[in-house]
Amino acid sequence: MTNSKRYTRNRLALAGITTFAFLAIAALCFREQATSAFSAPEPMSTAAGEELYKQNCLSCHAAEGAGSGRYPALVSDKFKKKYGAYDKAYAFISTNMPENDPGTLREEEYEAIVNYVLGLNGIPTEFADIGGHWAEQTIRTLWRKQAIDGYTAGGKLLFKPEQRITRAEFVAYLVKTKQLFLSGDAGSAWTDIGKSKYKTQIVTAIDYGIVDGYPDSTFRPDQPISRAEIAAILSRSKALDTDDSAPAQLFRDVPADHWAYGAIRASVQARLFDGYEDGTFRPDQPMSRAEAAAVLSRLP
Ligand code: HEC
Repeated sequence: MTNSKRYTRNRLALAGITTFAFLAIAALCFREQATSAFSAPEPMSTAAGEELYKQNCLSCHAAEGAGSGRYPALVSDKFKKKYGAYDKAYAFISTNMPENDPGTLREEEYEAIVNYVLGLNGIPTEFADIGGHWAEQTIRTLWRKQAIDGYTAGGKLLFKPEQRITRAEFVAYLVKTKQLFLSGDAGSAWTDIGKSKYKTQIVTAIDYGIVDGYPDSTFRPDQPISRAEIAAILSRSKALDTDDSAPAQLFRDVPADHWAYGAIRASVQARLFDGYEDGTFRPDQPMSRAEAAAVLSRLP
């Protein structure tokens, strides 16, 4: 056999191995995607969080979050002030700890550690008012994805599922659900959002053209948002087909010349929304926080 023939054969073998490896990796990735699309990993227990803390954090921070030498204590007023909300603690711990090595742990492992450390600080990490609610699972899933938040009162974390959702809350949760790239705009064009804790998300949604303020330069963040307004926002955020020309009237209380007709039709067709059994849509009705969570959870 000549040298060049052997060379070709080796090359063929190499190409074969590379192709095989590529296919194997592709198959693995596909499987990974297929499983994660159907089931989010189960949350880990508090005990698991403690164990993970011991394994990954104890080398620098002391047991039970106490201080250790030059490393800060994780149970302190400073901690509560800076990382007192789940999303803040998660953001810091999962990106900065262990030192500049993000991705060392899996998402649900970071979740368990964050819950453990927050628990040490007496900060509740589970909603106390959704047990047995029809939207319990949906709310829990969105909370774990950090797409929604709640209220702390009397040492408890509350979701207030039956409370009307406000314009600011809905817009903020939508921006979080879709993980939109946050705007750097200070939002000074709007007179009444300076103090809102959702200012950044509101400005982001306005910049994306998903929602608009009012002509008098207000956003009215605390005003309840109606079903029609939500449909309009969703149809813009998803670029749904809002062709108004179709003749069929879907709901007897949404005539074809209703300002949100196209948006409502598109949102219902995209299965984000349902009407009521009596054939109405009730466009001006506000939405409860639980209902809004259900709508957000249906966004692809
Ligand atoms: C290699 C040492 C090291 C490890 C391991 C480590 N940390 Fe830290 N941690 C530090 C240092 C140093 C700081 C202070 C520097 C800073 O704030 O960025 C810090 C700060 C923190 C803070 C902020 C405290 C404050 O009051 O500002 C938190 C929260 C924290 N760590 C949590 C964790 C958790 C949870 C783990 C385990 C997943 C962990 N750390 C693992 C060294 C470490």
